[in-house]
Amino acid sequence: MQGKFYGPPDVQRMTRRAMALFRVVQDDPDFAWYGRFVALADFETGGVQRFLDLIEVQGASPAYWIANAAADTVKASVLRAGYRADRFEYVVSEGDSVSRARGNLSKYAIGDDVLVSRLGPDSPEADLDDFAEVAGAGGVLPPPEAVLRGAARKGVFLLARERATGRAISCAASIETFHVGSRRADSAFWGMLSTLPDWQGRKLALALGARAMVAMHEDNGFSKFITGVRAENEGSMALCAKLDMVPGKWCSYYGMDPAQFSSARVTK
Ligand SMILES: CC(C)(COP(=O)(O)OP(=O)(O)OC[C@H]1O[C@@H](n2cnc3c(N)ncnc32)[C@H](O)[C@@H]1OP(=O)(O)O)[C@@H](O)C(=O)NCCC(=O)NCCS
Repeated sequence: MQGKFYGPPDVQRMTRRAMALFRVVQDDPDFAWYGRFVALADFETGGVQRFLDLIEVQGASPAYWIANAAADTVKASVLRAGYRADRFEYVVSEGDSVSRARGNLSKYAIGDDVLVSRLGPDSPEADLDDFAEVAGAGGVLPPPEAVLRGAARKGVFLLARERATGRAISCAASIETFHVGSRRADSAFWGMLSTLPDWQGRKLALALGARAMVAMHEDNGFSKFITGVRAENEGSMALCAKLDMVPGKWCSYYGMDPAQFSSARVTK
């Protein structure tokens, strides 16, 4: 299934190429993918040259699990190769995230004025478009249709609508990321949180995110989660902390080739 791609035209071209590249390298545990760009799964074992090659081939690529102590060296290598470098703090489950998610769900139930649906193989195209639109409104890059429908990766994609109007107002996701043979295989990506401004502050992202986490655990067995958050995104950091996901030891870097990639950032 090729399906639809989202985001600005340059990002769509590149995520399309990334999906094709993943089909080529999917049996190699050194690579990771959850629908955006094929990444170096683990910087410590993958090494800098492969990271630079992934940027060259795709136009942009992240490297995950970079120890904070190595961050400056990684950044310097990316810049020296003529690429831009964009740092995210790697926020990882340090405690029992699934229990914390369940606790938050019993505390902050989603009200009757909100309708939550989960995307799947039979979802109407409008649900996928709405997920992409709400994510995009928060500056968050959604994965392609093949991932949203569960055809290319195991995942959970939740979309909240205002019951009265049907307007899509919030989204959250969790997606298989690593090869089963990778030492990071027990972690799954979690995030893609976005709530429209007039619905913010009502614990919607927390409840939806917690629901996505619990569903990912129950359906696919994951109990550790990872996500990339910019250091200055205090709201997101605080929300992650409520799910026992904390920064401190690791970061990830996106490398971007300015000749191929004109957008300032890949995602929020
Ligand atoms: C981050 C975002 C998804 C939060 O959505 P939301 O529905 O308003 O969040 P919630 O109401 O569920 O917040 C739950 C908790 O998260 C934290 N939080 C959320 N927004 C916050 C903010 N602006 N400042 C500080 N803490 C915040 C708080 O701890 C909050 O709990 P509290 O109200 O008891 O303090 C929303 O602001 C958004 O869409 N931002 C743009 C997209 C984005 O940054 N996504 C994350 C990418 S990493």
